[in-house]
Amino acid sequence: MNDFEQYLSHCLDELPASIVRDAMQYSLMAKGKRIRPLLLLKTLQAYGVDEHIGYPAAAAIEMINTYSLIHDDLPAMDNDTLRRGMPTCHVKFGEDVAILAGDGLLTQAFLQAAKTDCDSDTLVSILRLLSDYSGANGMILGQIKDLEGEADPNADVETLKDIHFYKTGRLLTLPFLCAALLAGRKADLDAWNKIGADIGLSFQIQDDVLDVTSTVEELGKNINSDAENGKTTYVTLLGIHQAQQDAKTIYERALQCLSDIPLKTAQPLLEIFEQLMNRKH
Ligand code: IPE
Ligand code: IPE
Ligand code: MG
Ligand code: MG
Ligand code: MG
Repeated sequence: MNDFEQYLSHCLDELPASIVRDAMQYSLMAKGKRIRPLLLLKTLQAYGVDEHIGYPAAAAIEMINTYSLIHDDLPAMDNDTLRRGMPTCHVKFGEDVAILAGDGLLTQAFLQAAKTDCDSDTLVSILRLLSDYSGANGMILGQIKDLEGEADPNADVETLKDIHFYKTGRLLTLPFLCAALLAGRKADLDAWNKIGADIGLSFQIQDDVLDVTSTVEELGKNINSDAENGKTTYVTLLGIHQAQQDAKTIYERALQCLSDIPLKTAQPLLEIFEQLMNRKH
């Protein structure tokens, strides 16, 4: 287990023992890819800042991501039974506990982020962003747009871009913004917002491609989930090949934008962008 993974595994230790804590720990410590924490830590490295200062915020974002997945899998949402290679939280613990485990992770995330060792102005900025980008002006807005888009026969590529901007792009932008704030680089936030939106869009296009091209073993989640839910995706609108092409073009656009930011070294980010561009799960 790497150092951050070790840290994450103890984040819920202070909570009293309960079935809801067990469910939170079960979903949090299942094998997620940890892309969002990795982006935060690599961005700090790129700025030449010790990555350990980012651990609380990185863990908080991972808790929010995990909560979003627990709720996304519920029968009333995508109705999926497999996540991170294991039965989904509601399959394992029941819907009632899974709903509360999601709520528990979301609320705990703010306590976690508040442990960041930084000045109070920076901390308030981080907490505000976490709330804004996760909530009804962020990921939650994206999830409702996703549910509405599913039912909209006229959904086009522009509709999908808007859904993905919120449902995926906002949580994938947070790591860059938190890292820039911790590095004392508020001036870079606009550039990171652009990069995060592109990374998010490209990431979701790939997710929709993998939903039809990958295997359950490789993905650790059910395949063909989008078709079963009648979702319009880049794949249904443009086909697999064009969707893959678009994902690549958008990643490359994000890469170009990196040069607008005065980093000490872009190398750690170039590596992770490359990994994202070629991801198979
Ligand atoms: C899943 O995110 C939700 C999407 C935005 C597609 P990830 O693909 O990062 O899921 P985990 O965290 O690795 O399980
Ligand atoms: C969900 O997108 C993104 C969230 C905000 C949770 P999907 O519904 O496509 O994610 P997966 O495929 O279930 O991981
Ligand atoms: Mg969904
Ligand atoms: Mg889903
Ligand atoms: Mg999906």
